[in-house]
Amino acid sequence: MDVIDFHSHVLPGIDDGSRNLDTTAGMLGMCYDNGVKTMIATPHFYAEHDRIEVFLERRQNAYEQVADLGLEKSPKLRLGAEVAYFKGISKAEKIPLLTIQDTDIMLLEMPFYTWDKSVIYEVRELIEKRHLRLIIAHLERYIKLSGNKPAIAELLELPVIVQVNAGSLLDWKQRGAILKLFKAGKAQLLGSDCHGMNHRPPNLWLGREVIRQKLGSDILDKIDEFGNGLL
Ligand SMILES: [Fe+2]
Repeated sequence: MDVIDFHSHVLPGIDDGSRNLDTTAGMLGMCYDNGVKTMIATPHFYAEHDRIEVFLERRQNAYEQVADLGLEKSPKLRLGAEVAYFKGISKAEKIPLLTIQDTDIMLLEMPFYTWDKSVIYEVRELIEKRHLRLIIAHLERYIKLSGNKPAIAELLELPVIVQVNAGSLLDWKQRGAILKLFKAGKAQLLGSDCHGMNHRPPNLWLGREVIRQKLGSDILDKIDEFGNGLL
């Protein structure tokens, strides 16, 4: 079964992630050496500054530059996007174009303000009316928003997939709450959310090691089974 990184900013020059091809090659090599077999490339998509077609063209160009390197030691890349929530997202006609390649699954970045009813309503619409499956990016980051706990509980009532950043498991202040989520089956996936070689480097395997030590390999197997089943 492949070890899959579900969240990465590994494509060069497309967002605040990898700045250039050298950095991308370094990140991919490091992931390969540490057992990552598949990486979902999820550059940021912000509807307020971008159009979907233009974004997809930029993403394709970046991907082709990486493919042209012909790296032998690299995880397989699958294209996706980290789509930032915006008002009206559930009605945006072309939103399904932003799903992970060959799937109906979209990585959704939720707002960094306390979620009101309309946020949960639109997430529900994306699932029920637009028939998308949603991975909620780094859920742990929204738990910190003041007054957001009731909305998170409402979100978790929906059939969403929850991704956690591997790096958050390295932070002892966050670790306990995240481990509880995995134990309770409320979180299913890990991603590195890597942005470069120095700042926010790839670290999926470090988060996996914390899970192995604290919860045992069974939970890691579950994460891998679930992730492989999605692709
Ligand atoms: Fe991200």
